Amino acid sequence: MTPRMTLDTYEESERNALGDAMDVMVSAFDPAFGEAWTLPQLAGVMAMPGTWLTIARVDAAPLGFALVRSVLDECELLLLAVSPLWRGRGIGEALLNDALRTARLKGIRSMNLEVRASNIAIKLYEKLGFEYVHRRPGYYRGNDGQLHDALSFRLDMLG
Ligand SMILES: CC(C)(COP(=O)(O)OP(=O)(O)OC[C@H]1O[C@@H](n2cnc3c(N)ncnc32)[C@H](O)[C@@H]1OP(=O)(O)O)[C@@H](O)C(=O)NCCC(=O)NCCS
Repeated sequence: MTPRMTLDTYEESERNALGDAMDVMVSAFDPAFGEAWTLPQLAGVMAMPGTWLTIARVDAAPLGFALVRSVLDECELLLLAVSPLWRGRGIGEALLNDALRTARLKGIRSMNLEVRASNIAIKLYEKLGFEYVHRRPGYYRGNDGQLHDALSFRLDMLG
């Protein structure tokens, strides 16, 4: 992790970090897959109880974020993104570890996620102990109309 980096967490209904998350969003997701969220989508989820957003910053500049939604003792990693210029320095891993730590502090027992089967992010999820659950064929449609399978992963956080 880069030494000047800070991780700041914003709970549901806090809207002041949405712009920072959108700054990362527009550069982090390949437009071919249509996976980036819009500001209204992000604001809509942030308004839901049990949601939190963590922003990674260096010298106040946002360079990554994680978005998690929890219901009772389960949570879902909705988005994880690092700006392209900052990749490969452990920031995605730090954000995900922080999300897991926050989840444990809230008494949450498992984290789920869904990811495009060709996404390199799967390497990170497996590194942190997520286990493959199932495949949904043709679940995502790219901007070119091509269908992509989704894989779902789960991490049980007992103990
Ligand atoms: C996935 C993503 C968040 C990873 O962020 P990152 O900061 O570059 O990842 P890290 O540097 O923390 O990598 C941690 C581990 O993940 C794996 N990993 C990450 N990027 C990798 C790559 N390009 N190739 C292979 N393994 C990779 C490795 O296991 C790595 O550990 P190692 O360095 O010990 O080998 C980033 O690539 C990204 O923003 N992608 C676009 C958005 C996206 O698709 N998000 C996921 C779905 S919401």
